[in-house]
Amino acid sequence: MLLRDAQGQPIAIRREDYAAPAYWIDTVDLTFDLDPAKTRVLNRMQMRRNPEVPMQPLRLDGDELNLARVLVNGQGASFRMEGEQLVIDGLPDAFELEIFTTCCPIKNTKLMGLFVSEDTFFTQCEAEGFRRITYFLDRPDVMASYTVTLRAAKAAYPVLLSNGNLVEQGELPEGRHFAKWVDPFKKPSYLFALVAGKLVAREQRIKARSGKEHLLQVYVRAGDLDKTEHAMNSLINSVLWDEARFGLPLDLDRFMIVATSDFNMGAMENKGLNIFNTKYVLANQATATDADYSNIESVVGHEYFHNWSGDRVTCRDWFQLSLKEGLTVFRDQEFSQDLCADASARAVKRIEDVRVLRTAQFPEDAGPMAHPVRPDSYIEISNFYTVTIYEKGAEVVRMMQTLVGRKGFEKGITLYFERHDGQAVTCDDFAQAIADANPESELARLLPQFKRWYSQAGTPRLAAHGVYDAQNRSYTLSVVQSCPPTPGQPTKEPFVIPLNVGLLDASSGRELPLQLEGESEATQGTRTVVLSRAGEQITFTGLDAEPVPSILRGFSAPVILDFEYTDAQLLTLLANDPDPFNRWEAGQRLGLRAALNGIAALATDATPVLNDAYIDAMRSVLRNPQLDAAFKELVLTLPSETYIAEQLDVVDPQRVHLVREAMRAQLATALFADWQWAYEEHHDTGAYSPDPTSSGRRALAGMALNFLCLAARSSGDAVWPGKTLQRFKDAGNMTDRFNALNALVSSGHTLAAQALARFHAIFKDEALVIDKWFSLQAGAPDRGGDILPLVKQLMKHPDFSLKNPNRARSVIFSFCSANPGAFHRPDAAGYVFWSERVIELDAINPQVAARLARALDRWSKLAEPYRSAAREAIARVAAKPDLSKDTHEVVTRALAGN
Ligand code: TRP
Ligand code: ZN
Repeated sequence: MLLRDAQGQPIAIRREDYAAPAYWIDTVDLTFDLDPAKTRVLNRMQMRRNPEVPMQPLRLDGDELNLARVLVNGQGASFRMEGEQLVIDGLPDAFELEIFTTCCPIKNTKLMGLFVSEDTFFTQCEAEGFRRITYFLDRPDVMASYTVTLRAAKAAYPVLLSNGNLVEQGELPEGRHFAKWVDPFKKPSYLFALVAGKLVAREQRIKARSGKEHLLQVYVRAGDLDKTEHAMNSLINSVLWDEARFGLPLDLDRFMIVATSDFNMGAMENKGLNIFNTKYVLANQATATDADYSNIESVVGHEYFHNWSGDRVTCRDWFQLSLKEGLTVFRDQEFSQDLCADASARAVKRIEDVRVLRTAQFPEDAGPMAHPVRPDSYIEISNFYTVTIYEKGAEVVRMMQTLVGRKGFEKGITLYFERHDGQAVTCDDFAQAIADANPESELARLLPQFKRWYSQAGTPRLAAHGVYDAQNRSYTLSVVQSCPPTPGQPTKEPFVIPLNVGLLDASSGRELPLQLEGESEATQGTRTVVLSRAGEQITFTGLDAEPVPSILRGFSAPVILDFEYTDAQLLTLLANDPDPFNRWEAGQRLGLRAALNGIAALATDATPVLNDAYIDAMRSVLRNPQLDAAFKELVLTLPSETYIAEQLDVVDPQRVHLVREAMRAQLATALFADWQWAYEEHHDTGAYSPDPTSSGRRALAGMALNFLCLAARSSGDAVWPGKTLQRFKDAGNMTDRFNALNALVSSGHTLAAQALARFHAIFKDEALVIDKWFSLQAGAPDRGGDILPLVKQLMKHPDFSLKNPNRARSVIFSFCSANPGAFHRPDAAGYVFWSERVIELDAINPQVAARLARALDRWSKLAEPYRSAAREAIARVAAKPDLSKDTHEVVTRALAGN
């Protein structure tokens, strides 16, 4: 398989070209002599021809390897290189293949394959990193049994880990030692892992339902042991939850998590040896925020749940990536919800998940990188670890659960794992299993059509319209669905859409009983209506007046709902909807409407954008004794600049920024007394606990401080900034401390400088906290173009490094991807900065560079002069010779996008 065409351009891999492998690898015996400059890898494989495939040469993948020897059945064999592939002809039906290679982990800045981080060896093999360790059939449908021997200097690398069980260890001459690991489960190469270095572990033994004992370990550097308790608790909860909810037990004697500070993504589910970015392991109350605690719980859960959804049953090819990622995100979302003590906390988690989907995935689905949940082609698979594969994929799984019910879904999961245990399968296999376990369900009835969610890209739009018929006492909702064209898909067929609906009484706000036309009785609460045609009508009867419809409750499908709500209807929903998601959504719609009006009216920062009704409604929410603090904080958070921008056909990012800042300033002053009350009422002084209730109180208190400092900015008041600085100094945990710091920085108060200096001094040895310090500054609200010069300054700080992905993200991504008001400058300097950083990063770490490259995905929506300047910056990157496949794919797609 050649990866470049005659012009040297990378060639796309297509899903329809899938062919089973010509050879199987039954066993792999790997011996590593670990050395940072030159690691030797001896790879002995028992292989056989796949009789179902026509006879052809063996082609093994490799990448940046030095090949020393190839033996077939112990004899020197003839082979040739085709690009990076090692090709062997004339092989017998079954044979032993021995390959000896070396590689250079210390120079591995891509962080794929075997690399060194802070003097410790780590591997990252998904998706195609194993080929950087040895020549192999590096594809997920080739599953083998692994035996791994690690040899290294004992003083420098006392801990030697790989997948499975430790079967032997001992001393070697010259101060070296070894450890031998055997993985009892067959696995694809992307799940291989090794770790070697100076590490310590928190350990916990747990007993499963079966009575079997398991050893859980969390490995970190010696100074970090006091930050592993939360990760360990999250792991224990994960093991218990998967067994309780889905009957899926831990299948290993030993389960290990290891943390590294140099990592391209969040974490990796290698069988029995998960490797994590430190960001998703390390936490104590002094260094980690509530958000960090909650992310750690999710990511530990996510990787643990992969042990079944990914490891026991894996993907046939990388086009099926969402088979494991969408399902596992769904599982981690359910896990976090199930750990919540009450319905309000569950709803808060749901709202947070939907917010991610709508601010990140909807733009992706509307831009040049739009792709189906099961893509049809790619140039570089690393570019398809996207919010579409993960988060939209999770929504597709969630819709299946909605269509078959919670119990039915659990039956479906059981059937899926029974049917496919030990196999590499497809998204079709998954959907089929869920449907087969629920033959009477709407999912089974509509399965082929439902699967359009896998094949069609783009966010469907529902145009809904309600008509009340006084004579018949009925209310008819007409719903028309459509889906915009996406690259390679000019037209779309209708989707199956589970639509959760309720009705409220317009005057009392009370929920009304639901009776569909033709039904003899009414029911209470939410109904799921299953849409499958381009246009449908739903008629409710027995209504004395026009109701307020509550549509898409719980965000029951990943769609955009257009309904011409009046302000009064939205205020009714905001005050009364028993569905917390739609209650929150009503507030978002009101805020969005105000923002769009302000933008259209060319509001300046002196123009009031929010009307009294909105301010009063927000005050009522804030003061409502029935609502939880976490929910209030979500309602009072205005839609983000990114989300507002998505609703516009032509975006002037400066105007969006200005209007949103004006809205924030107005909320700050109009609710000043309420914010004071909220702060006094919710800031606690007691012992720290990261549970949802306490973190909700801290979030609301932090929001109040933020607004109080913002109000002080216009009034000149010095009391609240002073109090905030004091709070910053006295805070008993990172959440309160960081929120206070953020309040000073984002209001641009003069006290911010000393607080930032102090913060750095306290935490100079805590890398993850220093990341926060950088990211807060690079992401702060822009005032007259002050952020870009600051970002350039930060890049010269002795603590800055482009090679460490977390640090690069904390400065560069915080500015380019998370601070639109600062990034989109009329003088184009933000784009020039972006193009320089993409090119610079591409030579170090293509995966990270390609992520950064996506910051300008939505360039074609920009107003002039931004649009032309952005296009020019992308073209400058695209014109660079020797670009990685990763970055090349992103920028060429961006340019093709318009
Ligand atoms: N499979 C991992 C997860 O979702 C993520 C992952 C894929 C990854 N490729 C990676 C992590 C490369 C680090 C580097 O859980
Ligand atoms: Zn995953």
